[in-house]
Amino acid sequence: MKLQEELGKRRTFAIISHPDAGKTTLTEKLLLYGGAIQVAGAVKSNKIRKSATSDFMDIERQRGISVTTAVMTFEYSNTLINLLDTPGHKDFAEDTYRTLTAVDSVILVIDSVKGVEIQTEKLMGVCRMRNTPVIIFINKMDLEGRDPFDLLDECEKKLNIKVQPLSFPINKGSEFKGVYNLYDKSLQLFSPEKQTVEKDRVEISDLSDSLLDELIDRDAPKLREDADLLHGVYPDFDVNGYLSGELAPVFFGSARNNFGVKELLDTFIRIAPTPRGRETDRRFVHPEEEKFTGFVFKVFANIDPKHRNRIAFVRIVSGKFERNQYIWHCRLKKEMKFAAPFAFMGSSKSVIEEAYPGDVIGLYDTGTFKIGDTLTEGEELQFRGIPSFSPELFKELINRDPMKSKQLDKGIQQLTDEGVAQLFYQNEGKKKIVGVVGDLQFDVIRHRLLNEYGAAAEFVPRDVYKALWITAEDKKKLEDFTRFKSQNVYTDKDEHLVYLAPSEWMLRNVKETNPEITFHTTSEFKTEKVEV
Ligand code: G4P
Repeated sequence: MKLQEELGKRRTFAIISHPDAGKTTLTEKLLLYGGAIQVAGAVKSNKIRKSATSDFMDIERQRGISVTTAVMTFEYSNTLINLLDTPGHKDFAEDTYRTLTAVDSVILVIDSVKGVEIQTEKLMGVCRMRNTPVIIFINKMDLEGRDPFDLLDECEKKLNIKVQPLSFPINKGSEFKGVYNLYDKSLQLFSPEKQTVEKDRVEISDLSDSLLDELIDRDAPKLREDADLLHGVYPDFDVNGYLSGELAPVFFGSARNNFGVKELLDTFIRIAPTPRGRETDRRFVHPEEEKFTGFVFKVFANIDPKHRNRIAFVRIVSGKFERNQYIWHCRLKKEMKFAAPFAFMGSSKSVIEEAYPGDVIGLYDTGTFKIGDTLTEGEELQFRGIPSFSPELFKELINRDPMKSKQLDKGIQQLTDEGVAQLFYQNEGKKKIVGVVGDLQFDVIRHRLLNEYGAAAEFVPRDVYKALWITAEDKKKLEDFTRFKSQNVYTDKDEHLVYLAPSEWMLRNVKETNPEITFHTTSEFKTEKVEV
């Protein structure tokens, strides 16, 4: 019974957005509501400075901070909320993709002036792969943004999901008056000076009420017209559509002005899913199961250069985790025990005695964990859903100090375990190609290899358009392909075959001439095939 109760109390989610849409500001406002921070600005000051000025030293500084913000736990209205942090910088998008495997739902922030941006589309694509429920928050309504109907249309088209506004804005920019909550039929009036909890909620169940004219004056007829239109277009809100990832409820507000945030949070705790189970290579694991299971989705190595230890973050999927309990590390087939598992409650870190599904715990270890590792009480399982995606940029790793080749091998290996980059080994050659999402990552890797491992590395650009995981039903055909294309066939960290296509044209050509080979865009594939 205890497990059920604990499950019912928890919500584990992430906030995602294109950089600058307001993710940090919204995070901060939610933490203020949860009492996890006391002053505005506490989260913001931790943020990496904007792209023009951010360099790898910033990233290094950020790495230390990231450990403490990897998961922010707070209580709100008898609910235990685990908010998982995602990096704001687009060069580290892959880290965000992995974090999304550890949450049960997301809040997607969109800038009302800019609409749906490229990073938002990519992140939404990852959510769709796992049918993650999404709530959309259209932010910056205090600015002269786009028409709300246009924004809703754009969300539906570009994000490829049905949307349903649960609140609707009254005017915008300097004329922004507030929002009408279509769900509980109330009016929330906006005043830019008030940075406090919104108390000015007025119930107006019938929009023909003259009180509406008193409150919003000239904007009343337009709201009536908009509400009529919305009623015609959108049916009643179907929470199951949201929970199955087919329908995204939409809220309008302004994170900076703390407007619409409480409403968002109140709805979130009401409708967001409790911790969900996960698929493994053998069976589906349900959160209510008595026995503990979990997986590693984030690893930080060498935070303290004096101690070569790592911190692995584990999302608990089922059962109860206990301090000092024997845990089975499925990949290494090894029993382990943790004396000081920790969690962050509010802003303080503490050793925990127990944890439940939906929780994220930090474990210290000396190099045994890789992203994607599964932990159980003995059962052999491997959680699915932590795929690698094709990196965007590829460079060859060159050793500049032959005396330090061992250090370089170890360093690059460990950084890859941490998920900083992807490493591809040439199948029949010596080349090592490192793939990343953004150029900044190459600087970070070079810097870390030198500082943490004493290895001098250089990166030389290579013509690689995309990495594609290859399979074939006929083993012989795959062997032939691997031999003929030996210059371009590599293996990844799990020894899966990967074709590094030199160009888009070549990829098309190779696909046409080798129809028996299947090319996949991610390292985990059930249904997905590449479209080029
Ligand atoms: P991010 O994490 O998604 O990258 O975005 P972040 O919260 O850092 O917000 C980006 C900028 O947008 C910040 O301005 C922030 O203050 C502003 N912002 C966030 N919400 C709103 C809103 O509702 N209305 C308006 N008008 N602006 C908003 P900045 O100038 O970069 O930083 P700061 O000087 O305000 O700290």
